Amino acid sequence: MKKIFIYTLIVFFILVILSFKLINNNSNNKLSTFVNTYKKINYFKKSNIDRYINYKKIYPDLNDEDIVTRVNLNLDYPFYENTKVSKDLNKKYILVNKYIYLPADYIPDNLENISGKYSDGNKLLVVDARIAFEELASAALKENLHIRAISAYRSYDYQKELYDKYASIDGVKIADTYSARAGFSEHQTGLVVDLDNIVLRYEQFESTDEFEWMNKNSYKYGFILRYPDGKSNITGYDYEAWHYRYVGKKIAKYIHDNDITFDEYYIRFIDNKKQDK
Ligand code: DAL
Ligand code: ZN
Repeated sequence: MKKIFIYTLIVFFILVILSFKLINNNSNNKLSTFVNTYKKINYFKKSNIDRYINYKKIYPDLNDEDIVTRVNLNLDYPFYENTKVSKDLNKKYILVNKYIYLPADYIPDNLENISGKYSDGNKLLVVDARIAFEELASAALKENLHIRAISAYRSYDYQKELYDKYASIDGVKIADTYSARAGFSEHQTGLVVDLDNIVLRYEQFESTDEFEWMNKNSYKYGFILRYPDGKSNITGYDYEAWHYRYVGKKIAKYIHDNDITFDEYYIRFIDNKKQDK
């Protein structure tokens, strides 16, 4: 009797150990399938594996490229958490968003006034962006369309004033949907213009022929719509039909042709070249 009991106990333990091994093997297999798929993506980061897996659980419908891109952007963290300072100061491909900020004392090199023909004469852009913007506005003018810069470079202190004003009126939560906190505005890069068509306010820019022209042509001059409609989960901001960012012709064409945000482009083609794999 005693012997039978001992044998049963031994068989039971063997079964328990075997089933543990099976479960473990299964989840290891699953993990390595995940990892092998992600590794084929050349901006995959080893250190982010657990985060890719968790993000896929939350967004099972996203494809692997989007999972890796969004986690690399830190979109699995709340906005303004896990922030880091930009290492791309004075580069035309600099990314500034709700995770990457500019030092408070950062003023870009080579700021120049935009011609009074296309602004109030008191708006600054970095030289390459200034030249490209004037070419763009001049080409539009030949078609009798009026493109005017109503805001361009903004200092840290001026952005702080703006954001604090909006936050005091609308509260932080709403202000965060349309205004950047100081240090987190790409206006501070000197590569950005907000536009109107002289007749209507900038909030109505979307309804103008000038907007239509920008949609078709801005990339030819190196400018992109930075906060497109339906992309606020990636960019962190509501749609802004008036806010254009200079990135240079090559990047602008890719973004235009592939309908992606600059945030996504940066992770796939720029951050990718710098990271340790
Ligand atoms: N309105 C944009 C997001 C800014 O404040 O920079
Ligand atoms: Zn703007």
